[in-house]
Amino acid sequence: MVRQHVNPLSRFFQQPRPLPAPAALFRVPEQPLHLDIGCARGRCLLELAQRQPERNHLGVEIRRPLVVAAEADRQALGLDNLHYLFCNANISLQDWLGSLPAGLLERVSIQFPDPWFKKKHHKRRVLQPALLLALGEALACGRELFIQSDVLAVITPMVELIEASGGFDRPPQDSRPWRADNPLPVPTERETYVLAQGLPVYRVLYRRNSQSLPPLQQLLQELPQGLEDPDAGVDNPA
Ligand SMILES: C[S@@+](CC[C@H](N)C(=O)[O-])C[C@H]1O[C@@H](n2cnc3c(N)ncnc32)[C@H](O)[C@@H]1O
Repeated sequence: MVRQHVNPLSRFFQQPRPLPAPAALFRVPEQPLHLDIGCARGRCLLELAQRQPERNHLGVEIRRPLVVAAEADRQALGLDNLHYLFCNANISLQDWLGSLPAGLLERVSIQFPDPWFKKKHHKRRVLQPALLLALGEALACGRELFIQSDVLAVITPMVELIEASGGFDRPPQDSRPWRADNPLPVPTERETYVLAQGLPVYRVLYRRNSQSLPPLQQLLQELPQGLEDPDAGVDNPA
């Protein structure tokens, strides 16, 4: 049975995992890259990779059994523009992003991240300031960061963090505060479930602008109260 949640701050998930370079993941590694953080069972990317063969798609996920199952699906379909990797995005992505060839990363999506409702668990949420800065450094001007959630209390601090960095703008034509539709042509599993219940989905598409990003300490100082300090450290297992 796959656990519904794992605690990303438990000691096991603090071990960095070296992630393979695009050349080891994709048949045409120089194609534009879409990174989906927290892809779960990966069915959205499986469909996207078939519809968008001109891009490479990488899903990262902290629950290893889901990655094993998703990789089996990918291999059964013989898709060579798709890969799934097991890692804690907050521990293993930063170095990998830093080593990508300039301009390769075209789009990052973070879709329906785990809510971790209790305040003492907010630091387990996936979009932490250091990760946002690493994404912002890896995304060239004009490249996209797409976030969506059905939980206002989860997406609001993500918006505050992204906007505090000063490194991202919304397309001027997008409605505020939330974009009307999903810019991706395939919904995620969580999205399909939420929409079937008739519940709202909150979405924002950002584009990297030409501003340089602040140092982490400065970004932390600019955040509204309540966003967590990423140096809060390892906490107790879930
Ligand atoms: C609520 S699910 C949403 C899955 C999918 N994006 C969707 O919309 O259907 C959030 C996923 O993010 C994964 N996740 C949470 N924290 C993570 C982390 N630090 N690194 C990688 N994946 C993480 C969880 O294991 C879970 O599969």
